[in-house]
Amino acid sequence: MLQNTFLALSLLLYIPALSTAYLERTDFPSDFKFGAASSALQTESSPHEGGRGSGTWDFFLGDIPAVQSYYKYKDDVQSLKNMNVKNYRFSISWPRLIPNGKLSSGVNQKGIDFYNNLIDELIANGIEPFATLFHFDLPSALQDEYNGLLSLNFVDDFKDYADLCFKSFGDRVKHWITINEPHVFASEGYKMGLPIQNDPKRHPYAAAHNIILAHAVTFKLYQDTYKPTQKGEVGISLSAQWFLPYAPLPSDKQAAQRAWDFMTGWFLDPLVTGDYPFSMKAIVRDRLPTFTQEEEEVVRGSFDFIGINYYTSRYTKSLKIEPSDVPTSFDKDHYLQTLTEKDGVPIGKQAGGFDQIYIYPAGLGEVLLHLKDSYSNLKIYITENGYPEKRNDSLEIQTALQDDVRIHFLQDHLKHVKKALREGANIKGYFIWSLLDCMEMGSGYTIRFGLNYVDYGDDYRRYPKKSATWLREFLTDC
Ligand code: NOJ
Repeated sequence: MLQNTFLALSLLLYIPALSTAYLERTDFPSDFKFGAASSALQTESSPHEGGRGSGTWDFFLGDIPAVQSYYKYKDDVQSLKNMNVKNYRFSISWPRLIPNGKLSSGVNQKGIDFYNNLIDELIANGIEPFATLFHFDLPSALQDEYNGLLSLNFVDDFKDYADLCFKSFGDRVKHWITINEPHVFASEGYKMGLPIQNDPKRHPYAAAHNIILAHAVTFKLYQDTYKPTQKGEVGISLSAQWFLPYAPLPSDKQAAQRAWDFMTGWFLDPLVTGDYPFSMKAIVRDRLPTFTQEEEEVVRGSFDFIGINYYTSRYTKSLKIEPSDVPTSFDKDHYLQTLTEKDGVPIGKQAGGFDQIYIYPAGLGEVLLHLKDSYSNLKIYITENGYPEKRNDSLEIQTALQDDVRIHFLQDHLKHVKKALREGANIKGYFIWSLLDCMEMGSGYTIRFGLNYVDYGDDYRRYPKKSATWLREFLTDC
């Protein structure tokens, strides 16, 4: 008897501990949106199929077909349905809709038909579309004509393209992401020679400035012209990492703040305050473009939500600024070093297929709370979070589907989302990158980010991985 009472008591005492460790759908508000994500360039087709025009990435990709979502979109929708996922973030390919970039040069009707079919198929299956307008897919014609993002013409052409999308699809698409990871496109693109690199001190800032303007005028266009009838929302997806001071020194703390400023704040601060972060203005004052008063008014407040793409975190160590320093490249402007380990201990385990990703789930929680505390609790969707495995074709498919490591990755991150929600962060959704294995920028087909496996040797057949089954069960009750 006594023994039984003890057992009952210990079980009772154990339950609260278990319930924080265990994750359930009901830990999240019922209107919280769980979804999966992808992008056109990484999934659809070979560059020129279906009347698509050239894009700036085609130069790197050659004629290698993507994983055929252009043809297999119905299979993709079934994959989403099989996972009980009710939200899908995909991107619209600008060169597929407007092959030469400019609206005046003509629209590819096959492109319009394709996205209409995809959107209708999603809705028929009870899945809400979240459409990204620009996910690294710039029409080459605009690069050739006026250097793409470096010209103010980009702002007008992007707005025209967005207008076409709102007009064509806005009756059914209620969540729009203007631009994906502008930090990556404005910085990595120019570093890698994409689209051009002839002034690494100035071009990333100039490109970023035009991206911010393009986003803001597009937001305004939607607000003024479409929102009253379509009643949707418009945001942007920003890359974020959490930066931990390497040592508890004021200089390393400031370095952590600068690292945030030069990555996420670079775009987020103008959208919230109408201007760049203080540290950027102080350090890059001779090269950072400025907003005119009129631009500032359009830029400030130009979002309904902010999308956050989170994968990893870093330590930061401050570097001294010497009066004699001459800037050589924008990525040295923040005067800091990012590190993946401290005293020989890595910040987290390195992800299988991608050496840049050190798994640090607490960093996502920190990012969310920082957005709550320092940016007046703006509305957030986590628009990407996911785990890459190294592609290993020597594995039997059944073995390759056993991605327990991805399940743990997702659960560990979701626990921090749950915690941030409880602490008051205004988080409305969480999207897993990616719906299926696909082309990875910079790594090609060497890694697999998918919840669903793609068999490259057998007509890109899709198979749900164990993580897809986990997600299906997790989402069962919603
Ligand atoms: C960010 C990008 O938006 C996406 O295109 C990429 O595949 C993932 N992160 C993973 O690196």
